[in-house]
Amino acid sequence: MAKLSNTLYQSRRNQLMESVTQGSVVVLRTGGLCTRNNDCEYEFRPNSNFFYLSGFPESDAYLMIDGHGRSHLFSLPKDMEKEQWEGFRYGDDAAEEFGIDEVKTLASLDESALAMLDGADKIVFPFADEIVRDKVNSWRSTLVKRARAGAIAPAAFQDLAPILAEMRVIKSEEEISLMEKAAQISVLAHRAAMRIVQPNMMEYQLEAELNYQFMKSGSRQLAYNNIVASGSNACTLHYISNQDEIRNGELILIDAGCELGFYASDITRTFPANGQFNDAQAALYQVVLDAYYAGFEKLRVGEAYESSHNAAVEVITAGLLKLGLLKGELSSLIESKAYRDFYMHNTGHWIGLDVHDVGAYKIDGKSRPLQAGMVLTLEPGIYVSKDNMNVESKWRGIGIRIEDDIVITDTEPYVLTHGLPKEIADIEALMSKH
Ligand code: GLY
Ligand code: MN
Ligand code: MN
Repeated sequence: MAKLSNTLYQSRRNQLMESVTQGSVVVLRTGGLCTRNNDCEYEFRPNSNFFYLSGFPESDAYLMIDGHGRSHLFSLPKDMEKEQWEGFRYGDDAAEEFGIDEVKTLASLDESALAMLDGADKIVFPFADEIVRDKVNSWRSTLVKRARAGAIAPAAFQDLAPILAEMRVIKSEEEISLMEKAAQISVLAHRAAMRIVQPNMMEYQLEAELNYQFMKSGSRQLAYNNIVASGSNACTLHYISNQDEIRNGELILIDAGCELGFYASDITRTFPANGQFNDAQAALYQVVLDAYYAGFEKLRVGEAYESSHNAAVEVITAGLLKLGLLKGELSSLIESKAYRDFYMHNTGHWIGLDVHDVGAYKIDGKSRPLQAGMVLTLEPGIYVSKDNMNVESKWRGIGIRIEDDIVITDTEPYVLTHGLPKEIADIEALMSKH
């Protein structure tokens, strides 16, 4: 599996401990297995914050960092009989494998936590995690009850989530290089899908090509459910049933990205089932592409995060006005958000360990300035409902989105998903090669 270096996890833990006050103890956990049906479980995927600080991929584990900055992992113990059925566990070897200071079994968590928290000033944990919250409350109550025996319970709690969100929003070079690998596998898969699509295929048959290419190229997981949406299905933003037949003359919107080393990629392309855009499809597509370029220009250090969205909205509204889907005056259509009938989502989001990654978009109520090392998607779109009787019939049921993953740098924005055509002529040229 693609793996970042242990020193990176150590330096993240150090950075975290530097940003909390001395005498703080950090607690977080990864997830458990989820039932799919009866005794079948979904494949496990670690909690992103937990993985970010530990690199430890197993389920059912806690990580604590004590007041001296030492890391303690509590995990399922080695158990040959269980491992025979459920698979390998690191057990104590996790210390060396992941550079953790101490590894203990999950069963010893309560006792160790009480010892670590006795005399600590503050417990830093994810407030949204009810299981950790209950644990922390019960540990604190126990220490309060032991006061006469000399125990000192921590007096304060702090939410871990916003601290880690701020750390995670800026990516290191190692992370960016792993994300580029994920992005390039996804590019291969999208290229393959464009080349093999045929009218009358089922959407899931085209999806099979994506999955095949992801796995063949080294990615075992998806970053999110594949969207393979033909015709008006593309107007359902999170269409994942992928069960319709692809018809001649329709566009297909594919929004699919693999995960590599638990880092996401997220790409959308929209292309014609028969390899040729018709005039209405091409006209709307060009508006979305122009919006992409307008948004791209704003992806510079110091620009407000929302500038890129605003630039895309202006181009989309102007385009819809020119083509007659909207009527009125440009500035008032933007002001009244009239474009939202056709463009109802944002133009991007942070991306990293989570496809919709953590990190504030506003600071003190204002859109935050972009910084080098931020990674985000740029994904303008236009969606004309098949039931929209206010527009000419030729526009109805067309859904288009174009999405790339982009790193903010001190110079030009860097497109991680490079090498995948988005110009009409380039898509048609790629699709004509069999
Ligand atoms: N694939 C989810 C998104 O584009 O945000
Ligand atoms: Mn996206
Ligand atoms: Mn997407």
